[in-house]
Amino acid sequence: MKKLAIYGAGGHGRVVADTAIVLGWQEIVFYDESWPQHQKNSIWPVVGNYENLLANLVEYDGVIVAFGNCLIRLEKTRELNRLCAPIVSLVHPRSFVSPNSTLGQGSVVFAGAVINIEANVGDASIINTGATVDHDCIIGSGVHICPGANLSGGVEVGETSWIGVGSCVRHGIKIGANVIVGAGAVIVKDVPNGVTMLSVAASQINS
Ligand SMILES: CC(C)(COP(=O)(O)OP(=O)(O)OC[C@H]1O[C@@H](n2cnc3c(N)ncnc32)[C@H](O)[C@@H]1OP(=O)(O)O)[C@@H](O)C(=O)NCCC(=O)NCCS
Repeated sequence: MKKLAIYGAGGHGRVVADTAIVLGWQEIVFYDESWPQHQKNSIWPVVGNYENLLANLVEYDGVIVAFGNCLIRLEKTRELNRLCAPIVSLVHPRSFVSPNSTLGQGSVVFAGAVINIEANVGDASIINTGATVDHDCIIGSGVHICPGANLSGGVEVGETSWIGVGSCVRHGIKIGANVIVGAGAVIVKDVPNGVTMLSVAASQINS
């Protein structure tokens, strides 16, 4: 029986678990700091906290960190990797990941996402539902490309940046580390480290 431990029992963790099920993982359990108050995450049990996970590592065929927070996800994945945990990446069977691209340890690619030729995605990254990462993109570790975001060819995204839902990035743009790109933003110029980028938001003009 293939057993997967997921650290991080929130909404993102549930999508990770669902993806794991369609990939054939037979037993899935969560670990989270909200344990023991929190004993279930949807249909899956929450069985302990991080300390318990470390104590039980040998029981699992795979381990993955599923926090939405990019920095925590990356740091915990690196820590577990140093402890020789069997970190896995999950690629939904209804996504497309070019055989000529690379995907780092502990990363997930959800349903409907596309990673095209010679794109590189680092460790502990999320290519979320329906997002596209086109040819020659370089996506750092701990990055989250949110649902429906579109990165044209040759875009670079630095570590732990968060590219918001439905945003789009012009070809060849370089986005720094620890950047937030707001929902629906259109990025046409390079972005330095650590900033938040917004486009004009929709506003109500009559009642
Ligand atoms: C950019 C973002 C992080 C800002 O969040 P926040 O700091 O909580 O900001 P607030 O919601 O308080 O909004 C502050 C102002 O920015 C505006 N704003 C917020 N998000 C915006 C966006 N995406 N585009 C344009 N304007 C935006 C708000 O309208 C508000 O304007 P006001 O001061 O004139 O009323 C957030 O709105 C966002 O877009 N997050 C991406 C979410 C996402 O992709 N989730 C996917 C999870 S899988």
